[in-house]
Amino acid sequence: MRRYFVGGNWKCNNTIAQTQSLINTVINKLVFDANKVEVAVAPIFLHVPWVQANIQKNVQVAVQNSSLTKMGAYTGEISVEHVKDLGIPWVILGHSERRQYYGESNEIVGKKTRLALDHQLSVMACVGEKLAERESGNTTQVIQAQLEAIKKELTTEQWSKVVVAYEPVWAIGTGKTASPEQAQDVHAFIRGWLRSQLGTQVEQATRIIYGGSVTEKNAADLIKQQDLDGFLVGGAALKPGFADIVAAANKAQ
Ligand code: PGA
Repeated sequence: MRRYFVGGNWKCNNTIAQTQSLINTVINKLVFDANKVEVAVAPIFLHVPWVQANIQKNVQVAVQNSSLTKMGAYTGEISVEHVKDLGIPWVILGHSERRQYYGESNEIVGKKTRLALDHQLSVMACVGEKLAERESGNTTQVIQAQLEAIKKELTTEQWSKVVVAYEPVWAIGTGKTASPEQAQDVHAFIRGWLRSQLGTQVEQATRIIYGGSVTEKNAADLIKQQDLDGFLVGGAALKPGFADIVAAANKAQ
């Protein structure tokens, strides 16, 4: 049985005061069965130590990116060694905003994923198609290419530390959520790909979470889908409604 997974991606938001308030008023009040749901939140790097020191123990801390290079003369980067050194268990990689604004290709995402896993981090690996790709009928090809670039870098065993986040780019931050059926179709495709490429054990163990305008209003319907194991939440993760999204996963059958 897969544990549900709910990630809160805070992106480049929140002053320290706002982060403190979010932790105190929402995150530390979350009530859920940690045997059933895993919850992780991703603040900006600079807020991580404060968050680690003040967050309830059932909620894990993630970062939103890590460098393609290890420690060294790479001004402005934060390496997987730094992430690990701080005891941060999770990193989000391949988010569409990284792909779109910072030139992260499938190949770069694959290599970053490998580097993170080689340093014992767990990875939320994001995939998803743009609107034009969906409209031209290329959704599954795009996602397959994104997954293949990751698979090329990993051993089969390393997939045990990967959560795949399906995030259709047209749904991110737009208020346009994929319908439960649209999400399920792609999740089923990803699950089938995992089976054919990596075997039934990886297929059955890997969490596939959905992201893209998830709110407290649509979470309960989405989570009913067979191949949907949780959420990666952006905008709604900054608000009290995040508690309802976690509650939807906690209640799901
Ligand atoms: P959103 O973002 O929930 O604001 O659409 C999701 C994400 O980017 O992970």
